[in-house]
Amino acid sequence: MTSLLIVHFSRTGGSRQLAEAARDGAAEASDVTIHYLDAGEAGPDDLLSADGYLFACPENLAAIAGGMKEFFDSTYYPVLGRIEGRPYAAIICAGSDGENAKKQLERICTGWRLKRIADTQVVNVAAQTPEEILGEKTIGKTALDAAHELGGALAAGLELGVF
Ligand SMILES: Cc1cc2nc3c(=O)[nH]c(=O)nc-3n(C[C@H](O)[C@H](O)[C@H](O)COP(=O)(O)O)c2cc1C
Repeated sequence: MTSLLIVHFSRTGGSRQLAEAARDGAAEASDVTIHYLDAGEAGPDDLLSADGYLFACPENLAAIAGGMKEFFDSTYYPVLGRIEGRPYAAIICAGSDGENAKKQLERICTGWRLKRIADTQVVNVAAQTPEEILGEKTIGKTALDAAHELGGALAAGLELGVF
């Protein structure tokens, strides 16, 4: 059975809403088995047993947020050379930028020799003040629809074996 692993980390809800939208899109577009895990729960075995991946996390301090970075740090070498060529997509939730986290995530995935199947989505929530940054986020429909579509495209492609 083909399976999709969705790993996400979220501090104020934005990345979680985007990951949920991608998960729902994947479920609607395909019959693939979806493993939807928080970065703190996911480990090397989850990566090894999946056929494709979707990663969603925030940019914090111009980098991948720590909880997601810990996931990559702890799984990078255990799976290196064992997941090459598998497809992935990614979503970054950012207050005003997101480019560094995107670059960092894609570099990690390049190191794993994964195949990116779509442009990484950077969703900007326009949070500038400490209060806005620390507040719970509500992601807009356009970004949720795009995440839904991304999850669907990844899952449908996995199911059809087109990647
Ligand atoms: C400690 C901290 C650092 C942040 N640094 C950045 C940053 O470097 N660039 C940026 O675009 N947004 C930054 N943000 C804003 C978050 O990316 C934004 O609030 C986003 O919604 C977080 O995603 P989440 O809701 O899934 O936690 C930062 C937020 C926090 C809490």
